[in-house]
This record gives sequence, C-alpha cells and structure tokens, in this order.
Amino acid sequence: MQYRNTSMRYGLVAQFFHWLIVALIITQFVLAEIFEDMPLGLEKIAMIVRHKEIGMTVLLLAILRLIWRYFNTTPVLPDTLKTYERRLAHLTHTLLYLLIFAIPVSGWIMSSLAKIPVDYFGLFVFPDLVSPDKSLVDTSKVVHELLTKALLIVVGLHVIAALKHHFFLKDDVLKRMLPFHKPD
Ligand code: HEM
Ligand code: HEM
Repeated sequence: MQYRNTSMRYGLVAQFFHWLIVALIITQFVLAEIFEDMPLGLEKIAMIVRHKEIGMTVLLLAILRLIWRYFNTTPVLPDTLKTYERRLAHLTHTLLYLLIFAIPVSGWIMSSLAKIPVDYFGLFVFPDLVSPDKSLVDTSKVVHELLTKALLIVVGLHVIAALKHHFFLKDDVLKRMLPFHKPD
C-alpha cells in the first residue's frame, strides 16, 4: 500500500490524517457531552483542559494534512458522476476543511477572550489570539457551538454520500479511503 495518493486512491498518509481526525472529533463531542452536564469543579475543568488539548491537536493535524494534500494528487472522482454531484463533493470537502480549522480556532479565541491560556499537554502555551474581553466570551461560545452543529450537518451529508457510493453506486469511493482495500 502506497504512502502517497494516486489518481485512483488515497495513500496511507492521507488516510491516516482522515481517520485520526475523525476519531479525535468524535472524542471531542463525547467529552463536551460529558462536561456540559457536570457541576463546575476540578473534574470539569480537567475535562475542558483535555478538550482544548485534543482540539488544538486537530488544528495542528489539519495544517499538516493540507500541506500533505498540496504535495499530492487528489484521486479523481468516477466518470459516472454528474457535474452537480462533483461540485457538491468538492463543496462538502471544502466546508469540512474550513470547519476543522474554524472550530478549534473559535475555541482558541474563546479561551483568549476569557483569559484562560491554552496549555498544550504541559509542553507549551499557545499565545492568545485576541485580547481578553469577558463581554465577548458568551458570543464566542455561541459561535463555537454553531460551528460544531454545522459540522454535524456537513459530516452527515458526507457520510450519506460515502455510503451511497458504496452500497448503491457500488464504486470504490469509500474503499479508496480505507486501508487494506484494493480499488476495483
Ligand atoms: C475539532 C475540535 C473541537 C470540537 C469538535 C469541539 C466541540 C465542542 C462542543 C460540541 C462543545 C459543546 C458546545 C455546546 O453544546 O455548548 C464544545 C465546548 C467547548 N469547547 Fe470545543 N471543540 C473543539 C475544539 C476546541 C478548542 C481547540 C478549544 C479551546 C482551545 C475548545 C474549547 C471549548 C470550551 C471552553 C467549551 C465549553 C464552553 C462552555 O463553557 O459551555 N474547543 N466544544
Ligand atoms: C468528522 C468527520 C469527518 C470529516 C471532518 C471528514 C473530512 C473529509 C475531507 C476533508 C475529505 C476530503 C479529503 C481530500 O480530498 O483531501 C474526506 C474524504 C472522504 N471521507 Fe471523510 N470526513 C469525516 C468522516 C467520514 C466518515 C465517517 C466516512 C465514512 C463513512 C468518510 C468517508 C470519506 C471518503 C470515502 C472520502 C473520499 C472521498 C473521495 O474519494 O472523493 N468520512 N473526508
């Protein structure tokens, strides 16, 4: 199995970025679901700290992923797709990329506004993105939440499309994002 993409399939590195980011994003939603219902205390703060660290990891991985994408070919979509379907696929992918940047950045801005530094696993502290301003914290929270809701919608469409390709159109669009699968 190749590390780099070909015109037929995603290579191991692109697959690794894709599925690791998916796993971390699921972890983020699970953590948020748990800490949202917790009373304010050390346990809740510890969970939010972990949420921030994992979120910044998504941001760092998204940057590396885009750099890798720039130096690779992107597999071509099957010829059978109509023009509007191709456009929709590109639009969805662009939105997904935008959201995996915008969500962590909005969280980082929220922390900067609240004057709570973003410590990265005790290794270093991310600099504040904006000056502190407590009056804007609630707005930034709403933005963070809305962006995560938008992600859920776009991912929903993305997953439906992937499953449609696999089970109805029976092409190799899903398989080429999976390791250990040879394209047809
Ligand atoms: C891919 C990355 C991320 C995802 C998917 C994500 C997702 C979420 C979700 C679903 C919530 C609950 C929203 C609600 O329903 O109220 C939340 C809350 C929160 N997130 Fe994130 N987040 C991410 C990254 C970050 C980052 C990087 C930071 C900070 C550096 C951050 C800081 C926070 C904080 C402080 C809250 C709690 C807000 C409150 O007090 O209610 N998040 N996040
Ligand atoms: C948080 C969830 C997800 C995000 C953020 C995400 C993001 C992306 C992005 C940005 C691409 C474009 C890759 C590129 O060309 O550089 C992509 C491709 C792909 N994703 Fe996802 N994805 C998610 C979940 C899933 C899931 C759950 C599935 C499977 C059911 C899936 C299946 C695929 C497939 C098959 C492709 C390749 C499409 C093609 O060949 O054109 N993704 N994903």
